[in-house]
Amino acid sequence: MQTVHTIAELRQQVRDWRQAGLKVAFVPTMGNLHAGHISLVETARRHADKVVASIFVNPTQFGPSEDFDSYPRTLDADSAKLAAGHCDLLFAPSIDEMYPEKNRTWVDVDDLGDYLCGASRPGHFRGVTTVVSKLFNIVQPDVACFGEKDFQQLAIIRRMSQDLFFPIEIIAVATARESNGLAMSSRNGYLSAAQKEQAAELYAVLQQLKSQIEAGERDYPELVKVSTKKLTQAGFSVDYLSINSASTLAPATLADQQLVVAVAAKLGTTRLIDNISLSIACD
Ligand code: PAJ
Repeated sequence: MQTVHTIAELRQQVRDWRQAGLKVAFVPTMGNLHAGHISLVETARRHADKVVASIFVNPTQFGPSEDFDSYPRTLDADSAKLAAGHCDLLFAPSIDEMYPEKNRTWVDVDDLGDYLCGASRPGHFRGVTTVVSKLFNIVQPDVACFGEKDFQQLAIIRRMSQDLFFPIEIIAVATARESNGLAMSSRNGYLSAAQKEQAAELYAVLQQLKSQIEAGERDYPELVKVSTKKLTQAGFSVDYLSINSASTLAPATLADQQLVVAVAAKLGTTRLIDNISLSIACD
């Protein structure tokens, strides 16, 4: 696997592949890679001849009181994992390479960012869509892979690509989980062994809610209230637990058939997110 740090080097390599008629897939990440990220690389491989991954801890998507400074930076270990996962090219730019001047152009997707994580992390998705637009323009891939773990991010990036006519197929990849059900995340490294066990309760609650809705329960506010209490009793500080439309991301109404049950909760100081999708037939 080749590693480049500049936009010029990245463009040169991708241009050579294009001239050879090869299809290019892209996997953007912030590093500290785990098996979930590598499953994105594996999916990317199945859709293209060459796979480009990026590692860039993007400052513009972190709020002032969030973990930008302490976010784990593990480039050597990440490179080894990507190489073992048959990634062809790693793009690891500096902040100056991605933001050479004060950034004045922003990409912002209306409405979809108003709910769930967008409500408690103002400006977060604007930072994500801006950096992903920059990366899409730099790499110009045929396909790009994103994880369902970040359901709202995926929905926003799909919409951004559609609205801005990026000629890129967006591919969703299922959430990779630990054996106890905990969704893999770079932030799991902040958890103690005991907290990792405790954190399994998040997915257990989502699965239970899914079963209840599939069994016909439709009092969504009540379902959410009971489950929130369960999480609080299990030691979580719940940011949101919500049953939403999978397309608009607004709180679900009884007319919605494609649903996402999403949760964000803190264990100690670590913020964890997870979600589960389901379809119901309307009566
Ligand atoms: P990061 O959190 O590093 O995640 C990179 C990609 O890996 C995202 O598409 C995310 O959804 C996916 N991912 C994370 N955990 C996963 C899991 N357990 N199973 C499957 N996929 C998983 O998301 C970002 O970085 C950034 O916001 C980024 C898009 C790179 C823009 O800066």
